[in-house]
Amino acid sequence: MSPLQNPLLISLSVVLLFFPNPTPAQKASSETTLVSVSPSEETQALLSWISNLETHQLFFPNPTIPPCNFPAITCNGKGSITSIKLASSSVRGNLHSLNFTSFPNLMHLDLNNNSIYGPIPSDLFALSELTFLDLSSNRLSGRIPAGLGSIKSLAVLRLSGNDLIGWIPISLSELMDLEILLLDQNQISGGIPAEIGNLKKLKQLRSPKDTNHCIKSLYFTPKHMSHGSLFSSR
Ligand SMILES: *[C@@H]1O[C@H](CO)[C@@H](O)[C@H](O)[C@H]1NC(C)=O
Ligand SMILES: *[C@@H]1O[C@H](CO)[C@@H](O)[C@H](O)[C@H]1NC(C)=O
Repeated sequence: MSPLQNPLLISLSVVLLFFPNPTPAQKASSETTLVSVSPSEETQALLSWISNLETHQLFFPNPTIPPCNFPAITCNGKGSITSIKLASSSVRGNLHSLNFTSFPNLMHLDLNNNSIYGPIPSDLFALSELTFLDLSSNRLSGRIPAGLGSIKSLAVLRLSGNDLIGWIPISLSELMDLEILLLDQNQISGGIPAEIGNLKKLKQLRSPKDTNHCIKSLYFTPKHMSHGSLFSSR
């Protein structure tokens, strides 16, 4: 489906154009990295992914201009993308065609509540600046990749509500800055590795076995946590 043929998407794009983000000067506050990347490479990577999606509500009117002025995208002062927020955007497709190595400055990736399926690709581990990763409420399958443990900057990892299987990799215990880890509502087997208890900054943990009516599944409490803090209201 071409965005140009769809009146809904055209009206959405008008909304995007009329409510742009703050100017780059206002939002460059967290610019700390100096990794150079051509903004056009980032734009091309995004457009290439979008063109491979089955459905979406995304529309970039001019492929030659970095999409820094769109509400979904934040850039640093050099025009390099630091944040992609596409929650609830009716995105249906996989992550295979998204070239993550094109986004060396990406800190925030939010794809919550879409219809993204397939495995979590290992390309994603190239995002060395990533602090926030939300892939929850999609249809991701396969195992939680051990390679996620190599994204040392991660503070928030949300994978709830997918079709993930297998065991929780011990490598997640290497994410020393991790504050929020949500793994509930998947098909994951086994418990939470005891090593996760070494994560001193962890404030919120939802285990794979958590459900609304199964509180007794608490079989692990990090030493520094109170029992109650494991179960935030949802
Ligand atoms: C999920 O996205 C759909 C649109 O695709 C929206 O209607 C729904 O409200 C969203 N749900 C949540 C919990 O955000
Ligand atoms: C992915 O992006 C990088 C950096 O922009 C580029 O060098 C590489 O060729 C791209 N890979 C593919 C498969 O397009």
